[in-house]
Amino acid sequence: MTARTLTTGLVGALAPTSTGSRPLAPRAGATDGPARVVIDLDLPGATISRHLYGHFAEHLGRCIYGGFYVGEDSEIPNVRGIRTDVVEALRALRIPNLRWPGGCFADDYHWRDGIGPREDRPRMVNSHWGDVVEDNSFGTHEFMDLVELLGTEAYVNGNVGSGTVREMSDWIEYLTRADDSPMAALRRENGRDEPWTVPFFGIGNEAWGCGGNMRAEDYAALARQYATYVRDHGDNQVTRIAAGASDGDYAWTEALMRAIDGLEGRDGRPGPFQAISLHYYTMSGPWEDKGSATEFSDQEWYRTLSRAVRAEELVARHATVMDRHDPHRKVGLVFDEWGTWWNVEPGTNPGFLYQQNTVRDALVASLHFDGFHRHADRLLMANIAQTVNVLQAMILTDPDSGALVLTPTYHVFAMNAGHQDAAALDAHLLLPEEIAEVDGRPLPLVSASASLRADEGTALVSLSNLSADEPRTLVLDLRGRSVTGHEATVLTGASTAAHNTPEQPDAVAPVPLTDVREHERGLEVTLPPHSFATVRLDLA
Ligand code: AHR
Repeated sequence: MTARTLTTGLVGALAPTSTGSRPLAPRAGATDGPARVVIDLDLPGATISRHLYGHFAEHLGRCIYGGFYVGEDSEIPNVRGIRTDVVEALRALRIPNLRWPGGCFADDYHWRDGIGPREDRPRMVNSHWGDVVEDNSFGTHEFMDLVELLGTEAYVNGNVGSGTVREMSDWIEYLTRADDSPMAALRRENGRDEPWTVPFFGIGNEAWGCGGNMRAEDYAALARQYATYVRDHGDNQVTRIAAGASDGDYAWTEALMRAIDGLEGRDGRPGPFQAISLHYYTMSGPWEDKGSATEFSDQEWYRTLSRAVRAEELVARHATVMDRHDPHRKVGLVFDEWGTWWNVEPGTNPGFLYQQNTVRDALVASLHFDGFHRHADRLLMANIAQTVNVLQAMILTDPDSGALVLTPTYHVFAMNAGHQDAAALDAHLLLPEEIAEVDGRPLPLVSASASLRADEGTALVSLSNLSADEPRTLVLDLRGRSVTGHEATVLTGASTAAHNTPEQPDAVAPVPLTDVREHERGLEVTLPPHSFATVRLDLA
């Protein structure tokens, strides 16, 4: 882990000064009339890949151990050691992919330590996260078992920082090769006959920091080399993801794009890597004091939401660097770490990154998704950090009772699930008030995005009211298709800091939104203060 600064400045001369047609933030204009969200239902844009709703599970704190994995002897109901309740909750979200084993842990991880009989597996020190001893009881087979139980796809993150090319090459062979190759035979010895499918493979992580403290050009050369040996075995076609920039480090993205300029992989895809990652975390304070998850002022509320909106600007600017090298958008941008990062809950291990999750986290998530939908043409994948008990989690589990709580963020993922693989629709905001600035950045107090499922004849509209204390009435100005029905759902709580606990698991939970009326332009919706809502439209 490396300390990072939350600057808003761009890096050096490589910072794009223009983003062409890419929006840096929600498109908002002024109006004399009521607040409106204008949606052309007959102008579908890029497909919103389901992989934008991806997840991340690192060997960190209680994410794997206690979160996903309790071992076969646990009293907590499990399948081969994997918690049944966690699997059921995540299956309901239709999570499209899961990244593992890190994060910073990935560049310390040697996969051979995590195969074979558990009692024979060597131990290691998890130096990034609490300096605890890792017994490697959750390894490759356990992870792929979890992937199968979840009905999701694997994103395995390899080790460049302290691993070898051969180690990485052997891992993908072990995972995906069918015949009697040395690694396939080893996998069979360990009880798995059939190869697995691994569509995504990370070439190290945060190489500028915990992944080796490298310079951009040095890592770019290594990424080319390592990715070359992550081979496609049989039918398994891998998207290789180079470890990308943090925040506004556009020079890093530029170096990676230059490294593959004009190169082609064997199958006509860009090569040797096909995607580049990006990491950005939202905090309300500086790195040294990120702010409390549950105790915050209105000022911190708005600052946090403003910083969440910045994620879209980062996507737009990194995408613009990529557009210059790759105008046909064959290289994917993978935002594989995003979300809130608060001070840990008092009394918990500072290395375990356990934090509560409030209505504020829910709106941070909804704002990210609105931005992701607007850049669906370049964004291939995004992974919130992290799924269980770490950072902006979907699920919190009690270390003593084992009780499971679904967080407000979980509910945003559930309410937005209908956007997966749908076509993005432009949702243009027209607001009667002057748009406020927070820390020099405009922050409209409404956010919206929409998508169309032409095959089903439905559209989904997501709406966020960022006001801490005012309700908001919005006209959905629906053009191009007739609307024959609607169903609206809202997520909010008694305060901006409302959150769920084992005692009050539904303090923040979705309920039907009844404040929806027909309007000459479409529908009129009233959102409570600090709320997120979705409106599903049936189209003629
Ligand atoms: O998600 C926690 C950590 O944040 C990851 O391990 C690392 O990649 C980033 O610094």
